[in-house]
Amino acid sequence: MALQRVGVVGFGLMGHGIAQVAAQAGYQVIVRETEQRFIDAGFKRVDASLDRMVKGGRVAEAEAKTARGRIETTTEVKALRDCQLVIEAITEDLALKKTLYRELDAICPPATIFASNTSSMTIAELAASTKRPDRFAGLHFFNPVQVMKLVEIVRAITTSDETIGTLREFTAKIGKTGVVCKDTPGFIVNRLLIPYLNAAIRALEEGVATPEEIDEAVKLGLGYPMGPFTLLDYVGLDTQYHASNVLYDEFKRPDQAPPPLLKRMVLAGHHGRKSGRGFYQYDEKGERKK
Ligand code: 3HC
Repeated sequence: MALQRVGVVGFGLMGHGIAQVAAQAGYQVIVRETEQRFIDAGFKRVDASLDRMVKGGRVAEAEAKTARGRIETTTEVKALRDCQLVIEAITEDLALKKTLYRELDAICPPATIFASNTSSMTIAELAASTKRPDRFAGLHFFNPVQVMKLVEIVRAITTSDETIGTLREFTAKIGKTGVVCKDTPGFIVNRLLIPYLNAAIRALEEGVATPEEIDEAVKLGLGYPMGPFTLLDYVGLDTQYHASNVLYDEFKRPDQAPPPLLKRMVLAGHHGRKSGRGFYQYDEKGERKK
């Protein structure tokens, strides 16, 4: 199916990046947020990212301006009715997502494909809240979307081959590598990443070394771009906690269970960079305090 108009629901951490890369690839994009202030915040992120790309010489100024102009916004779900693909990137709240999908299902033509950026929910369950479970899949992006090359294309037991084919084409057109995987908790990357990050927190609990030392060791010893504590603060401790619980609920493997320190930090509101405090502290611009 030829895609021209792509809907994105949610203009937050992931949604703004998804809308931006789709617009940069030439798609007409319409983003739905619940309130104008979230639209303004999303555009602030898009502008900062495009600005970085222009300054870094990766994108021409005129090209950035054209891409920015391809992003339309709305607070109404019904404005997404002409999209051939709708990507949902809202809060990880099952009831909210199901309500949204029911609404989208009622207004979009039967051929429209729905894709969820969820990192922790069962795609088949979300698909079952629509009358198009064959035109429903997961499309899991990585943060920062503008830089990370991978997209996991998640095939639910109901997803058709045609839908997977269209999503493969879309993923390639936005300059990403799509890897198709099963609808199983954590998909590929988080299944491996979550136990690793939990192991780092347990090493800290056991006094093996400080967060700075563990980060330095992993960066230099394994060649990872970020150490585990920098990454935890970057993706959000609440996200790690939620994903750990989902994995543990399904498989009951001890390495997937959230460590006590993670739980306490989340309950204390230390969610990482976005809340100003996680394993490190951050200023209003999100820069790490020395
Ligand atoms: N928009 C545009 N460009 C960006 C950007 C953004 N939001 N963020 C970074 N960049 C660009 C920078 O401009 C720079 O390019 P330039 O040299 O041309 O200017 C380049 O990326 C490198 O950035 P920095 O110099 O600031 O710093 P780093 O070299 O450390 O790179 C990083 C930053 C790309 C974030 C790198 O540290 C990294 O890859 N970290 C690991 C991220 C990761 O693992 N993400 C996955 C998390 S898991 C997930 O998302 C799944 C979820 O379900 C939990």
